[in-house]
Amino acid sequence: MKKLLEIHDLYINFKTLWGVAKVLNGVSFDIKEGEIFGLVGETGCGKSVTALSILRLLPPNAEISGKILFKGKNLLEKSEEDMRKIRGKEISIIFQDPMTSLNPLFKVRDQMLDIIELHEGLSREEAEKHAEKLLKAVGLSDPERILNSYPHELSGGMRQRIMIAMALSSNPFLLIADEPTTALDVTIQKQILELILDLRNRYNFSVLLITHDLGVVAEVCDRVGVMYAGNIVEIAPTEELFENPLHPYTQGLLSVVPDPRTKKPLKPLKGSVPSLLNPPSGCRFHPRCIYAKDICKRAKPELHEHSPGHFVACHLYGGGNCD
Ligand SMILES: Nc1ncnc2c1ncn2[C@@H]1O[C@H](COP(=O)(O)OP(=O)(O)OP(=O)(O)O)[C@@H](O)[C@H]1O
Ligand code: SF4
Ligand SMILES: [Mg+2]
Repeated sequence: MKKLLEIHDLYINFKTLWGVAKVLNGVSFDIKEGEIFGLVGETGCGKSVTALSILRLLPPNAEISGKILFKGKNLLEKSEEDMRKIRGKEISIIFQDPMTSLNPLFKVRDQMLDIIELHEGLSREEAEKHAEKLLKAVGLSDPERILNSYPHELSGGMRQRIMIAMALSSNPFLLIADEPTTALDVTIQKQILELILDLRNRYNFSVLLITHDLGVVAEVCDRVGVMYAGNIVEIAPTEELFENPLHPYTQGLLSVVPDPRTKKPLKPLKGSVPSLLNPPSGCRFHPRCIYAKDICKRAKPELHEHSPGHFVACHLYGGGNCD
């Protein structure tokens, strides 16, 4: 499969009053055409910053280096004007809480039609037809009623479906979904994930699905990247990751997911996420790692292909920088 997005060695620092936060520490991964790629990791590990960097929506205190190739072109070299044409058209994003993205003062009709007219250059009447089609495509069977509603008159699940419809209105190549189901209850979560999967199967766009929930990953992702404190520590096809996790952090994450077959008690990961103002040297996971050895404190392990398609950044498996 052809690569749609390639991130190479992305470093992001934030200048803050307390010093420089070294938030992304050389992140690399790619997303293929039509693929659902999951990015998983604990809070604060840099998932949203990675997403925002793709759209070049980081605040001015961010320093960025590396490459973000989208259809072969480096987004970090594009002008702001070019980025405006890409955002929402070729790359769309949806967030956790649709209430923050929908304006409570306007009916769904006004908000949807504004977006559709902006991107498609359609008349109001054509845009309305397109909106109805999109609402049906996301499983909302009474588009007329939805278009006439204010956001607060709809359920959280319906609002997220509307956000998905708006994100897909321009037929984007890439949909970034940042914790799209976290604010929803479990049954609705499952429905929204199934919807994303179904739409991808129908329209073949790629998805960057950001989550801290391994259950979500297992449900819909083709491949997964595991993030820890600003690094991608492991990338593998979903089944392979669950069956054969290599990185000690991934193994730790998987051991806290309860196994319904054995009902093993939860084993929380020891220690806490490090401060990115003064991150640990070498492997950033070393203070929490039960396998840490001397080299782990000195040298950052690089991501390398351990077996076909399965990448890991850990000195237990080689990984460069070994002296
Ligand atoms: N504008 C900013 N200025 C300084 N630091 C920031 C800024 N934005 C994010 N950070 C820091 O970058 C780190 C990564 O944040 P990010 O929001 O990407 O985490 P995340 O993985 O999405 O977490 P969550 O699961 O809670 O959404 C955090 O330590 C955060 O405090
Ligand atoms: S590089 Fe060392 S500290 Fe880091 S995960 Fe591997 S063994 Fe643990
Ligand atoms: Mg986030």
